[in-house]
Amino acid sequence: MSRTVYVNGDYLPEEDAKISVFDRGFLFADGVYEVTSVLGGKLIDFEGHAVRLERSLAELDMGMPMTRDALLEIHRRLVAENRIEDGMVYLQVTRGAADRDFAYPPEGTAQTVVLFTQSKPGLADSPAARTGIRVATVPDLRWDRRDIKTVQLLYPSMGKMAAKAKGCDDAWMVEDGAITEGTSNNAYIVKDGVIVTRQLGPEILHGITRAAVLRFAREAQMKVEERAFTIEEAQAADEAFVTSATTFVTPVVEIDGVAVGKGAPGPVAQRLREIYLEESRKAGI
Ligand code: PDD
Repeated sequence: MSRTVYVNGDYLPEEDAKISVFDRGFLFADGVYEVTSVLGGKLIDFEGHAVRLERSLAELDMGMPMTRDALLEIHRRLVAENRIEDGMVYLQVTRGAADRDFAYPPEGTAQTVVLFTQSKPGLADSPAARTGIRVATVPDLRWDRRDIKTVQLLYPSMGKMAAKAKGCDDAWMVEDGAITEGTSNNAYIVKDGVIVTRQLGPEILHGITRAAVLRFAREAQMKVEERAFTIEEAQAADEAFVTSATTFVTPVVEIDGVAVGKGAPGPVAQRLREIYLEESRKAGI
């Protein structure tokens, strides 16, 4: 059965959901996006994603195309119409369609707003969470404003392919000797009970899952250090893991062919995953 997709005010069967070839998202990657997970038919951390969307848009001199409540309504209607139990809602806002020009189009040009769902039955019970994933490092060659969630995802996509070519699951990106983040997740290590993850700044995306996981960790009296760490430090850590809206907390068991700790998911990552899933399900809307 075809999905229902939202395009600029209309709910359409996916085969009829179309945007202009002149859309600046298509021509210039001039757009931003959000991915909100769905567990048990509920949206996880919708508020956090909406706040980050507003910020991404503002950083690019774009406004919100509609109120937060209107966005929530669209998310909910798509989840219901597409009968999403577990999965995600993808949202993209671009500067709209205009004659190709490096200058932004005139004020008043309508933004493009697209939302669609992906069903992922058993999302919270993925094999990767049980076995852990293996990562390979690649240089971080992205632009300097990674805190804006733009749709320029070619380099992360290339990084993931480079990692897969080495038999790994994902890549961790490295700049000036330190890990920035994964291709589509934030990166962490655990050493002597201390959770270490890079501090916020323009070098990384300010993960919504990251914020929640660090809050839960602190509430559970775990020690957290927000600072940069090197590949060598990560390889010598007791544990490593990643967080994102679609993978929650997923253990990393190998970095560039070197086993992390015992080479199996560690207790801190497993505990944080449990807490995150439990609390997020409770708070889902
Ligand atoms: N990616 N870092 C990067 C580069 C990301 O693309 C993402 C999310 C994250 C984690 O952010 P959050 O916890 O808010 O999902 C960190 C999404 C899931 C994606 O592109 O599909």
